[in-house]
Amino acid sequence: MPHNINLNRINKSRIFDVDFDNIGFGKVFSDHMFIADFDGQHWSNPSILPYGNFSLSPATSALHYGQSIFEGMKAFRGENEVFLFRPSDNLKRLNISGERMVMPAFPEDLFMVALLQLIDLDRAWIPPADKGTLYIRPYMFATDDFIGVKPSEKYRFAIFTCPVGPYYAKPLKVKVEEHFSRSAPGGVGFTKCSGNYAGAMYPTKIAQSEGFDQVLWTDPLTHTYVEETGTTNFFAVFHDHIATPALSDTLLSGLTRDSSIQVLRHLGYRVEERKISVHELFEANNNGTLKELFISGTAATLINIETLAYRDQIINLVTENSQNVTQIIKSKLDDIRTGKSENFQNWRVTVPSVIQ
Ligand code: COI
Repeated sequence: MPHNINLNRINKSRIFDVDFDNIGFGKVFSDHMFIADFDGQHWSNPSILPYGNFSLSPATSALHYGQSIFEGMKAFRGENEVFLFRPSDNLKRLNISGERMVMPAFPEDLFMVALLQLIDLDRAWIPPADKGTLYIRPYMFATDDFIGVKPSEKYRFAIFTCPVGPYYAKPLKVKVEEHFSRSAPGGVGFTKCSGNYAGAMYPTKIAQSEGFDQVLWTDPLTHTYVEETGTTNFFAVFHDHIATPALSDTLLSGLTRDSSIQVLRHLGYRVEERKISVHELFEANNNGTLKELFISGTAATLINIETLAYRDQIINLVTENSQNVTQIIKSKLDDIRTGKSENFQNWRVTVPSVIQ
């Protein structure tokens, strides 16, 4: 189906105020955004317009009952081109989240047209390859003004973008969380709904007050198997294989997780998706078979955990060495995303240069 997107351009770009050397993460927003509204039947009025505030009723359903889902993606600057990485898979996951949260699916053809136009229009906002990437935030929230617990009829879908540097600047200190839970079997842990992140803030704040960067969630029933961190999936590199928790309804199916598994296997590593107990990690550390721990996410990319704490036990791992699997896989993934690798070419989508 052809989609005509209304275009209302900014009068004067803010790009000249941006310092790509000190960009941080999530603080600077590009000139334009995309919005579309669901009226109970159809997505209508798809528009690209200047980045700016929404006007919302105080009774907006998403604010009270939490029907709100999102995605995280990036655009990468290649030598002569701009690329997106597996964008359809992000939309698939958004629509999986939406189904669980009783929200309408967003059509893939409209998503791709809107995304490519928006990134094309704001391509100057993509930092130089050595300075960062353009983070892309598609999301949807319920807009009925209504008090009462029932699915909204109306929704807004939006995409805005921000030039970003690293989410984490250095290897992490992580605490195994065994009191609080992020999700439960039958719950919404596999979705990227906003509430999953809100619920994680209190335990994370406690961990941060104890000197940690993040928590590593454990299974909600026994608190003995690791699941994911507050912002990413989790991997352990053992002497003869790499393991990551198997997917279930309590953890998010990360695209960087999936891409890392596929690239690692392509490179000849044995990767197991299975249960990993806290006990196994500490035992492997004690007998010298645990080599690295790392996390994977779109925002965080791939980064090592240098310290993992569980009660009074600590794993300290050396992260600076040339054999570091995390660095090897990170640079392979970067090459795929920026067009330097011939492998996994179908993961890259070129952003055509159309808008003048
Ligand atoms: C992402 O990795 O894109 C996320 O949405 C995680 C969030 C902590 C920024």
